[in-house]
Amino acid sequence: MTPETNTSVAADRNKGLILEQLCRLLPEDATVLEIASGTGQHVVHFAAALPRSSWQPSDPNPDYVLDAATRCDASRLRNIHPPLQLDVHQHEWRVADEFDAVLCINMIHIAPWSATTALLAGARRVLREDGPRLLVLYGAYKEGGQHTSPSNADFDLSLRARNPEWGVRDLEDVERLAADQGFKRGALVRMPANNLLLVLQG
Ligand SMILES: C[S@@+](CC[C@H](N)C(=O)[O-])C[C@H]1O[C@@H](n2cnc3c(N)ncnc32)[C@H](O)[C@@H]1O
Repeated sequence: MTPETNTSVAADRNKGLILEQLCRLLPEDATVLEIASGTGQHVVHFAAALPRSSWQPSDPNPDYVLDAATRCDASRLRNIHPPLQLDVHQHEWRVADEFDAVLCINMIHIAPWSATTALLAGARRVLREDGPRLLVLYGAYKEGGQHTSPSNADFDLSLRARNPEWGVRDLEDVERLAADQGFKRGALVRMPANNLLLVLQG
């Protein structure tokens, strides 16, 4: 790791909690595509704890791809493939494989709504036909059109101030779109700090 490698405080805080859920959800030998890997802290933590699983990190931002690559190399884990530069809007996701699960942490509120549509469509294409076909989303959501906490409402305002196309999404909107793409809810887990882990099965 170099002093320039970015580190996310939030990722360090939530990685253990998310891992607990992944341990329950994923087969031991799961193959997982991570979308929006950011700094790579999550993928390294998950791959280390689940040594029989195999991970493909990705991010559209070349700086993050570099951060994730640096972190994955430093981990010396053999079950992480080199991070790919991948934007969910790409018509073709240039991945070498099909996957049991697609994991996306804290992306859909910090991207336009079109990214959620593209994520669902892309996940359907890359999920293995004879696998569990899981799309796991983690982040803040509104429920029934309402924020679930004042901090999520503030977060939503700050996102929209940065980009009017960003914002905390409504769980029902995501699930409606997911249903249009052939996904149904597999589980909904309430996580600390007013976050949700939504498991879609398609
Ligand atoms: C808040 S960061 C979350 C990073 C990491 N998952 C985490 O929780 O620490 C949002 C990430 O979404 C990625 N992102 C934004 N738009 C995207 C898109 N269209 N396709 C894939 N990833 C995207 C960004 O590059 C960034 O890494």
